[in-house]
Amino acid sequence: MNIAVFASGFGSNFQAIADAIKKGKIKKAKLKLLVTDRENSFARVRAKKMGIKDVFIDPGLFKKREEHEREIAKILKREEIELIVLAGYMRVLTGYLVKKYRNRILNIHPALLPAFKGVSGIEDAFKYGVKVTGVTVHFVDERVDHGPIILQEPVKIRDKDSLKSLEERIHKVEHTLYPEAIKLFVEGRLKIKGRKVEILTRK
Ligand code: GRF
Repeated sequence: MNIAVFASGFGSNFQAIADAIKKGKIKKAKLKLLVTDRENSFARVRAKKMGIKDVFIDPGLFKKREEHEREIAKILKREEIELIVLAGYMRVLTGYLVKKYRNRILNIHPALLPAFKGVSGIEDAFKYGVKVTGVTVHFVDERVDHGPIILQEPVKIRDKDSLKSLEERIHKVEHTLYPEAIKLFVEGRLKIKGRKVEILTRK
């Protein structure tokens, strides 16, 4: 299955996914493409190092978000992409791409959805004082951080935690949870029933 990762920044999830595939942990997955909206994203450096094709498409060149996505969609088609993995992609997708790749776009969120949606999920949970936060991998629909949930893993917040130490533990969990969710998708083991995602046992 041909996969494209979309990332805007550091790209540690992109790296974790690429490593998992390289180690043979997700059989039949091919990481074909990195798509980014930021010219200087470190994810691009990682892609170059790993020999993965990277495409930067400048959103500033388009009047509408959808036009930017149409440009991306052309490349996805050319590369025969079957699964889009959002990994720190700091743009909200429009209905155009969501519809085109319905139930074939995954996202990772650094909190237990539906709590602490938005761009600062770790910090918001930390400041709120919750005792448990975590990581969510979900399908993408038209609403932000909203689609059916595939996997969640809790992370306890300790009294002695700083925002930094919590961030580190959250990212560590992300780096195993995301490859696991991708593997389930690639193996055809995710069945969406309304808001619920059933995980089928291996045949
Ligand atoms: C992660 O915390 C992810 O949950 C969020 O954005 C961050 C991306 O980090 N959506 P990285 O670029 O993969 O290191």
